[in-house]
Parts: sequence; structure tokens; C-alpha cells
Amino acid sequence: MKSISANCRAALAALFLTTAGQAGAQAPAPDYSAYPCLSYTLDCGKLATRKPQVKMLEGTLNGNAEKGKQLAQARNNGNCLACHVMKGGSQPGTRGPDLSHYGSAGRSDAETYTAIHDMRTRNPDTLMPPFGTNGILSDPEIRDIVAFLQASK
Ligand code: HEC
Repeated sequence: MKSISANCRAALAALFLTTAGQAGAQAPAPDYSAYPCLSYTLDCGKLATRKPQVKMLEGTLNGNAEKGKQLAQARNNGNCLACHVMKGGSQPGTRGPDLSHYGSAGRSDAETYTAIHDMRTRNPDTLMPPFGTNGILSDPEIRDIVAFLQASK
């Protein structure tokens, strides 16, 4: 009996090492230390949330709608589909308004840009991530996404 449980432990240890080894072979874990969290114990819990930031669109939009669509719908990027219905997207979430005809709403490029950069400037309690302020999307990426939304009629 004793030797079986010892074997079991050895098997479990081998399994753990294999799994750990596999995890180690994958891409290194991203560094989230600059992002605030809700922890009482981790350092990220002591970081202040970035203040809402009004950013105006400079010059003409110059966005690429096709690129914007890819960026907006990629799960590892804008992932707007987590909350919004969008043209050409599948399995959307429902927390935000339907954006599939956004381009028919008559909104300007400038207000759309500012909203995606940081929706908290419109609604301080919004669920929508401050994509620009938090560095999730760059200025050219937001321009592409605005072009995509404006082309969604
Ligand atoms: C976690 C959910 C969530 C995600 C992810 C999200 N949004 Fe939103 N979005 C919202 C909510 C909720 C609103 C409604 C505004 C509010 O919060 O008052 C909104 C509003 C908007 C509006 C304004 C719509 C209008 O008619 O005025 C735009 C434009 C928009 N989102 C674009 C985007 C884009 C582009 C992305 C991806 C880069 C995105 N959102 C990702 C939740 C989200």
C-alpha cells in the first residue's frame, strides 16, 4: 500500500513537472505590473487608476476600415465583440449598444475617436475600457477602428 502511494506521488510529481515544463516552453507571461487591480495584497492594488483623458483627433482621420475591422474584432486586440454587435462579427456580447449601423448615426470622426480613446470622458461609470488612455490601442489603431465604424452603415 505504502509503495503504491509513493508511486502515485512520484507519478503526480512527474506529471506536474511535465506540465510546468510545457508551460515554461510557452511564451513568457505578460507583465501586468503597470496595471491597477483590486487586490488588497498585491502591489497592483496600490496603483492609482489612470485618470480619464480627453484626446482630440488631430488632422484628418486617415484610417483603414478593413484593418479597423480586424483590430476591433480580434480577441487579442480591441475585442469590441465582447460587448458590441458589429458588422461581420460573430458571437457578440450585449453589454454595449449595437454598433452594426454606427456609420448611419451621423456621429463625427472626432467624437468617435475621443469616445474610444476614453469612454469615461462621456460616462465616468462606463464599463468600456479606456482603450487609448490604458495603451490597449494606439492612435493609428483607433483611427482604423473609427474608419470601420463609420463605414458600418
Ligand atoms: C466591456 C464592454 C465593452 C467593450 C469591450 C467595448 N465597449 Fe464600447 N461601449 C460599452 C458600453 C457599455 C457603451 C455605452 C456607453 C456607456 O457606457 O455609457 C459603449 C459605447 C460605445 C460607443 C458609443 C456608441 C454610441 O452610440 O454612442 C462606441 C463608438 C463604442 N462603444 C465603441 C467600442 C469599440 C470600438 C470597442 C473596441 C475597441 C468597444 N467599444 C469595446 C461597452 C464596451
